[in-house]
Amino acid sequence: MAPLPDAVQIAPSILSADFAALGDAITCVQPVADLLHVDVMDGHFVPNLTIGPPVVAAINRHTAMTLDCHLMMTNPGDFLDAFARAGADWVSVHVEVDATADLLKEMRGLGLGAGLAINPETPYEAIEPWLGQLDHVLVMTVHPGFGGQAFMSDVVPKLRRIATTVARGERPVIVEVDGGIDVHTIGQTAAAGARCFVAGNAVFRAPDPAAAVGDLRRAAETAIAAEVGG
Ligand code: DX5
Ligand code: ZN
Repeated sequence: MAPLPDAVQIAPSILSADFAALGDAITCVQPVADLLHVDVMDGHFVPNLTIGPPVVAAINRHTAMTLDCHLMMTNPGDFLDAFARAGADWVSVHVEVDATADLLKEMRGLGLGAGLAINPETPYEAIEPWLGQLDHVLVMTVHPGFGGQAFMSDVVPKLRRIATTVARGERPVIVEVDGGIDVHTIGQTAAAGARCFVAGNAVFRAPDPAAAVGDLRRAAETAIAAEVGG
């Protein structure tokens, strides 16, 4: 069953894990996390290179976790089928890449959870027309390309606007945030309407990654309770 859109979901980003011990890192967060965030970078859309379908397939053999694949790619359409076959569950393509309608249609056809990611500098108006058709929307709170960057609080008004539009719609779209999320920053994104939280350094660079997931969840839930109560 799909999770309720209002439930808090924590998605550790393996970009901050030790790639030489990736299986162990996943095993550690698997019992406590909701999704596994997989950052795919093409060296073109972003100035970094990471992983592709063969690694997603290996991860999929290792874990039953829901794989949340964030495609920071200029040409995601060339690889959607490969990611679906590798075992991706959710896929986000960037709204800054053209052919959004075709990409969403193809994601649906492949049975993938269909998401759109939006960069910090991209205006709300670019994503507004698509919000009613998504399974999730990935709001970047850093410039994509690297883990461990500082949270950009100036994105929060746009996040709130996106979450407000989603809440008024009929479709249960999950609002996900990505970049610089830790116990200090997660609250403001939860209060603004985010319910799914990607965290790389805050999880995998913590002494106890599983405990860090719990700390993030509690911080988000506390902020949501204060927002609802207040
Ligand atoms: C950045 C990636 C993020 C990154 C987040 O381009 O999309 O998912 O792994 O890492 P932290 O949480 O360390 O900012
Ligand atoms: Zn990401």
